[in-house]
Amino acid sequence: MSYRHFGRIGDIWKHIPLCEFLAIEKPTRYIETNSAFPQYQLTGSFEQQYGILHIEKNIKKSQRIEQSVYWKLLSNIPENRNGVSKYLGSPALALNILGDSAKEFVFFDIEEACLKEIAEYAKKKNLATKTNCLNQDSVDGLINMVEELGSQDFIHVDPYFIYKKNANNNSYYDAFCLGMKKGARGMLWYGFNTVQEREVLQNVVRSQTDNSGQTRLQGIEIMSILLDENTLDVNPGVLGCGILIGNLSQHSRQSFQEMAQEVIKIYRDSTMFNKYPGELKFEEFEIQI
Ligand SMILES: C[S@@+](CC[C@H](N)C(=O)[O-])C[C@H]1O[C@@H](n2cnc3c(N)ncnc32)[C@H](O)[C@@H]1O
Repeated sequence: MSYRHFGRIGDIWKHIPLCEFLAIEKPTRYIETNSAFPQYQLTGSFEQQYGILHIEKNIKKSQRIEQSVYWKLLSNIPENRNGVSKYLGSPALALNILGDSAKEFVFFDIEEACLKEIAEYAKKKNLATKTNCLNQDSVDGLINMVEELGSQDFIHVDPYFIYKKNANNNSYYDAFCLGMKKGARGMLWYGFNTVQEREVLQNVVRSQTDNSGQTRLQGIEIMSILLDENTLDVNPGVLGCGILIGNLSQHSRQSFQEMAQEVIKIYRDSTMFNKYPGELKFEEFEIQI
């Protein structure tokens, strides 16, 4: 299985806001560029203990997260009745949240095995006829769809390297910005492990800034309070990650900020790998493209 990060901290600061956005925005079409699998069996690893299992243990610290679309969905699946053992990837989250209201789901991945499982999952949910699984490079795939994109769409872009150019000299960040300029709604996720990596990403994001541009993107990065120290000999998956959103409603934007504050609250006084302070901090930014 190629995606090993399921249920880790990076998934927390991706799936909690994603679920809120989908429930609020109710797009007609959901397009995911990097889908991976619909569901996973948790192993109880240190990384997951600092991720979803930390959320589970500390859920009472945040009524807002306890009431969130994400937590309700995850805690209510039958396999998790006696504690969370099954984790849902973003394709399953989207299919569950938008099932009846969406007209179409488009899932890209270069791995056939992921798409096969998504198709099976969609079939079980009676959503097979609305679900399109595309086994191809999604940078070009998304760019090829740009002309037909609009406010009815929600694009979820979740690669690791947002700025790596493909053979046609396009990156995920380029594709995301083109989609946002066409008025599609969406979110882009990126991760980093050092201050330097974060700086590179911030420069990439800001490289598209256009002060006369009509589209505003809002970002929130969540990171370990130890990111600046460079002293850790463990890694929970990522030490920091950011989400950039565009064309979402005021309600979603407010929810985005609230969720960041609540995630910080749930990690207060926490430890990472029983060894280091696990506390998180966050930073917000906005750009115009
Ligand atoms: C970070 S995981 C996605 C996790 C998932 N979005 C979630 O939140 O549960 C990345 C996925 O991207 C896929 N991938 C990598 N490069 C790709 C490309 N060029 N086009 C489409 N999919 C790609 C990988 O096969 C992998 O399944």
